Amino acid sequence: MLVLGIESSCDETGVALYHTADGLLAHALHSQVAMHAEYGGVVPELASRDHIRRALPLVRHCLAQGKRTLHDIQAIAYTQGPGLAGALLVGASIGASLGFALGVPAIGVHHLEGHLLSPLLEPHPPAFPFVALLVSGGHTQLMQVEAAGHYRLLGETLDDAAGEAFDKTAKLLGLGYPGGPALAALARQGAPGRFKLPRPMINSGDLNFSFSGLKTAVLTLTRKHALDDGIRADIAQAFQEAITDVLIAKALAAVAQSGLRRLVVAGGVGANHCLREKLASAAANKGIAVFYPALAFCTDNGAMIAFAGAMRLRHQPPTGLGFTVSPRWELAHTTPPGR
Ligand code: KG4
Ligand code: ZN
Repeated sequence: MLVLGIESSCDETGVALYHTADGLLAHALHSQVAMHAEYGGVVPELASRDHIRRALPLVRHCLAQGKRTLHDIQAIAYTQGPGLAGALLVGASIGASLGFALGVPAIGVHHLEGHLLSPLLEPHPPAFPFVALLVSGGHTQLMQVEAAGHYRLLGETLDDAAGEAFDKTAKLLGLGYPGGPALAALARQGAPGRFKLPRPMINSGDLNFSFSGLKTAVLTLTRKHALDDGIRADIAQAFQEAITDVLIAKALAAVAQSGLRRLVVAGGVGANHCLREKLASAAANKGIAVFYPALAFCTDNGAMIAFAGAMRLRHQPPTGLGFTVSPRWELAHTTPPGR
């Protein structure tokens, strides 16, 4: 089955063609980062309008890249939520109307399910069950994944998401939006050990996170020091060390608690090299295998939506013409397919 995937939950329009037998045939992405940069963050109305401009040209691009025509598409998956309502409506209305026009099923997919299943697109995918650390701009969650569609929330952030903490800290250090990659690059130039930041909730005994205190600790440091390039880099280094320590400690605690040996890391912050390096050695020491999506699929993309849609369509009826979007939607509340 050839599935067209459309992602439009935030500031990236992602489109992909995934074939259940032949794998990923094409994917294309338009990032709105440059458009939102001058506002220091995502402007929802601008995001929606840009998704409208980009979606269909990206569909055409993917069809050409995958050497397919519109009539080869057998199903359509679009991001139903969570995300910005107007942005989601663009992908949902295009997905549902294309489905209607082509006479093929269309299905709404949970954005985080897309992230969570994205490592299954890799040549050596993890087997079920596994523990997943979802670290994106809007969410930080630990999930136990029994099978596709069967998700149990083990812990989550009580305030800022990890990506949000990266972005806010980057802003405090005078870096542009989105701050994660910029902060990571700056941290590489920093001297380890000059500043020590807290590891919030690392010993809380549960699997929840809190990052707002870490951001406040950075704010205090930025007020105490004249921010030259060296100090900014040292603060970035200290922040990255602190947040990755917490993410790794909690993820490994979740794996230990589950009795499993497989950990999936997905979402934008999963692209962070410091996290990957530290986790690789910590997990190896405990005999835990860690799985990531390809770097390009850590952040938002259409491939993960096409793939999650294909998995759901095996067991679940399509959404149909009466589509809806779900700007707030708990992953653990999605219906397991086949029930
Ligand atoms: O998964 P994603 O593309 O979007 C959401 O679903 O939210 O994640 C975006 C987040 C942003 O906060 C961005 O700053 C962060 O992921 N991010 C990173 C890196 N690349 C992206 N954070 C740290 N290091 C990176 N290399
Ligand atoms: Zn995302």
